[in-house]
Parts: sequence; structure tokens; C-alpha cells
Amino acid sequence: MMGAARERLRLTQARMRENNARFGAWFNRVMPKGLYARSLIIIVTPMVILQSVLAFVFMERHYNAVTRRLSAAVSQDITALTDLSAGFPTQADRDRIKQIAQSAMGLTVDFLPGERLPPPGPKPFFSILDSHFTSELGKRLKRPFWTDTVGNSNLIEVRVQFDDMVMRIFARRSQAYLSNSHIFLVWMVGTAVLLLAVAILFLRNQIKPIEALADAAIAFGKGRDVTGFRPRGAREVRGAALAFLEMKRRIERQIEQRTTMLAGVSHDMRTILTRFKLELALIGDTEETEALRNDVDELQRMLEAYLAFARDDTTGEAPIMADIARIIDDTRHNAERQGADVTARFVGDDTLVMIRPDAFRRCLANLVGNARRHAKRIEITGTRDERWLTVTVDDDGPGIPPARRDDVFRPFVRLDDARNQDAGGSGLGLTIARDAARAHGGDVMLGDSPLGGLRATVRIPV
Ligand SMILES: Nc1ncnc2c1ncn2[C@@H]1O[C@H](COP(=O)(O)OP(=O)(O)OP(=O)(O)O)[C@@H](O)[C@H]1O
Ligand SMILES: [Mg+2]
Repeated sequence: MMGAARERLRLTQARMRENNARFGAWFNRVMPKGLYARSLIIIVTPMVILQSVLAFVFMERHYNAVTRRLSAAVSQDITALTDLSAGFPTQADRDRIKQIAQSAMGLTVDFLPGERLPPPGPKPFFSILDSHFTSELGKRLKRPFWTDTVGNSNLIEVRVQFDDMVMRIFARRSQAYLSNSHIFLVWMVGTAVLLLAVAILFLRNQIKPIEALADAAIAFGKGRDVTGFRPRGAREVRGAALAFLEMKRRIERQIEQRTTMLAGVSHDMRTILTRFKLELALIGDTEETEALRNDVDELQRMLEAYLAFARDDTTGEAPIMADIARIIDDTRHNAERQGADVTARFVGDDTLVMIRPDAFRRCLANLVGNARRHAKRIEITGTRDERWLTVTVDDDGPGIPPARRDDVFRPFVRLDDARNQDAGGSGLGLTIARDAARAHGGDVMLGDSPLGGLRATVRIPV
């Protein structure tokens, strides 16, 4: 018994959760994505709701009540006048009645002997005022009557049927209706528009610093200069901007430290190695020293490569708008001069991209150099869309097994040793290529080429 109830409760809860999640997803989909639009909605929604409620209450209650009371007062006056007219039928009495009506009630009365009521006119469809007035009049007046509340804009006309005549009464519209209510609406909408304008101006100034911060972060991520950025806006936004600047400074310092240390270590070791070689030379040529000398040579080559790498890194080349198609073609040309079979193409018209051209050339040259060393045919393809510049280097060589594709990016890692001992480089090419791509906020990835060998893909955000 208890178990069943609990089970039902659990099911209901699950269903509610699911509905909640679905509503949340829907809400997220319909809501605008931008902070600007969202904040505007946050401001505008309460305003609209507040004003609608106010308008409704005012119209529905106050406005109706006042109109009803005004209509009642005028119809009471009219009833009193008709009763008087019926009781005092002489001409002198009627003149007096006309006079009193004009001066005390603000009504213009005329007696039209021998007339009949005109046929009822069309009812104004939207006017609750008209229906109020007519119904108030109908409650009190015991005679046939005719009203026109629309014909003359300032006046309402009432005709009452007597046996031998018609009594015509003009009242000012404002006596019977609370007719200036549209002023209220005008004021309401006017202030709403004013508030909205203030809100828009204010919000724009609040959101600009956030956009500037986002732009600065994106530029830094792509390795571009962050110029002219300074913390502005509300305290929290300024706090985030300061934190970003602090982070940027730390990262830059760290990079600088890394390269300085690398250069320092390589340099110091080179000095010792040189001494080492000198000492080896002094010992003279034996079999043991020969092997030692080879080792020292290799160590020196590695150090030189590291030193070059560290130097490249520190030059701090500035990003400029460069023609990618030309860089690709130059790379092809250079490889061809070294005897490779290379084709290159760039797909698309927009070839200008913000990059550090030398670093990018170095990256491509390393990838193409690898392909040239391991394969016969090379294909370079560049494409560009709104977000990425992509260059692939395909070859028909042996490729790299998927398990080793991460390793080869590490400095001094070479797979060549087993394949061909001598043609080896230092094992820094892919490290350098990836470093250059990452300095642009991009990356280098390895995969299988349709040509059968390795495909190296450079991707850089534009
Ligand atoms: N296109 C390729 N096809 C097959 N193997 C490759 C290819 N490119 C690189 N490799 C393998 O990845 C290893 C690392 O390449 P990397 O460019 O980092 O160093 P390297 O070419 O040996 O030396 P360096 O480029 O410094 O002269 C290479 O030793 C090679 O075994
Ligand atoms: Mg290489």
C-alpha cells in the first residue's frame, strides 16, 4: 500500500522534473541570446505588466464608475426637466424651465411642438459610455426617448416624446462622460517610451565594457595584440577585466621565463660542450674517443636546434594581414626547388588573414619538410570560412601510426631511427609547427591522408 503510493509519488516527481527540463530548454531557445536583449526584457517586462494592470484597473473600475455617476447625474437632471415640463405646460413656464436648465444645469432645452422622434440611429459599437448613458436614462425616464451621442462631437442630444411635442436637450459631452481618459493613456505610453529610451542608453553603456573584455580575451587567445583595452564599467565587470589583465600578464611572464631559461640552459651547455670537444681533441684519436665525439656532436646539434627554437619564440613577431594564398604558394615553390612533387591550392576568394607570417611560414615549412622527407607526392590545400583558416598537408608516405601521433609533437621525438638513421632531423619540427599554430590560438593535428600517407592539418581562428 505504502509502496504503491511512494512509487506514484516518485513517478509524478520524475514527470515534473522532465516537464521542467523541457520548459527550460524551450525557454532558453526562445529567449534572445545576447545580454543586451536579455537585460532589456528584464526591464521592459515588469514595466509593461505594471502599466497593463494599472490601465486595466483604472479603465475598468475608476473610469467606469465615474462615467456611470456622471451619466446618472445628467439623466437625473433630464428626468427632472421632463417632469417639470409635463407639470407646467404654459409658454411662460417653459421659458422659465429653459432658463433654469441653461443656468443651473448647463443644459440647452428646446420644445418642438408637433414633432415625432426620429428613428433610432446606429449604435456606436465601442462606446461603453453610450450604453451607460442610455441605460441610466432608460431607468429613470418613463417616456420614449432618443439619444445621439456620436453625431456632434462635443454635445450629446436627447429627445423626449411628449403627447404633442418633442423636448430636445443638448448636454455637453464632458458633463456625462469622463472623456479625457486618453490623456492618461498618452501619459502612460509616453513615460514608458521615455523610460525605455533611458534604459537602452544606460544598458548600452553597461554592456560595452563586457563586449570589450570579450574581444580582448579573444584577441589574446589568438595571439594578437590587445591594444587600448582598459577596465571600465560596473565594479564586477571592471573586476573581471582586471583579473583578465593580471592573468594575461602572468601568462606572458611565464612564456618569457620559459624561453629565457631554455636559451640560458642551451647556451651554458654549449659552452661546456665546446670545452668537451677541445679536451677530446687533445686526447687524440682512438676508437673510444671517436664514439664519444659522435655523441657530443649529436648533443650539440640538439642544443643548437633548441637554441634556434627558443630564439624564434622570443622574436615576438607582430600579427598582420597576410595573403595566405601567397604563403602557401611560396611554400610549394620552396619545396619544389628542393626536388619535391608538390601541388598547392587555396579554395575561396578571401585570402587575407590576420597572422604572424613568419611563424606561419615556419609552421608550414616544417610540415612540408616532413612530407618531403618521407613521401614522394605532396598536396597543400588551404580553405577559409568565417571562423577558421585551415591548411592541410597531405603526402603519400608511410604515415604515422595513430598511437604515436601524440608523441611526435614532443621535442626530440623521432620515429625515423628505425627507418633511416642518417636523414634524421632533430625531432623539433612538429613541436615548432604546433607551437606556431598555438601562438595563433589554433593547433596542428595529424590524421590519415587520402593519398595514403600522413595528413597534417593546421587550423587557426580568423
Ligand atoms: N609526413 C610524415 N610521414 C611519416 N612520418 C612523419 C611525417 N612527419 C613526421 N613524421 C615522423 O614524426 C617524427 C617527428 O617529426 P618532426 O618534424 O618533429 O622531427 P624531424 O622531422 O625528425 O626533425 P626536424 O623536423 O626537427 O628536422 C619524425 O621523426 C618522423 O618519424
Ligand atoms: Mg621535421
